[in-house]
Amino acid sequence: MTVNEPSSPVCYASEADDIYMGFAGREEILAALNELLEAERAGARVALASTKSANDPDYAELMRSVRADEARWCAMLSRQIRRLGAAPSRKTGAFYKKALAIPDPLERLAFLNRGQAWVVRKLESLTPRVRDEALHADLREMLESHRVNIDRAAAHLEAEH
Ligand SMILES: [Fe+2]
Repeated sequence: MTVNEPSSPVCYASEADDIYMGFAGREEILAALNELLEAERAGARVALASTKSANDPDYAELMRSVRADEARWCAMLSRQIRRLGAAPSRKTGAFYKKALAIPDPLERLAFLNRGQAWVVRKLESLTPRVRDEALHADLREMLESHRVNIDRAAAHLEAEH
């Protein structure tokens, strides 16, 4: 068996073989997907709350787009968790309360961006270890979209300071 061999989406050959080859097993993947789901849900709720309290239209627009994105990845992660036969976590990451405790909108955006960078690091370490092709593709897309959004928020922070 070689690493490049195509795998079927759900019933991939033998989990023991996968783990032996350095791929993440089902439990590890589920734990990581749920952790990401809780983080994205926290991000979505922070962005929604920040949109409501925003005075600057550019900032509000940025937060609306962050919220739409976080909601999109929540849906993808929930779908992938269900596809693996598990129930998606209903929790919201601790990040939510920490972010809302920051009153200054730009400081909160900077904090949100650090959260997004955490997601990027998490995805960078997880994605290469995911053998399942459909999940791998979704995680890669999530990673790319986070990189784009981090740059966009950083540009906003740059322009406002
Ligand atoms: Fe995110």
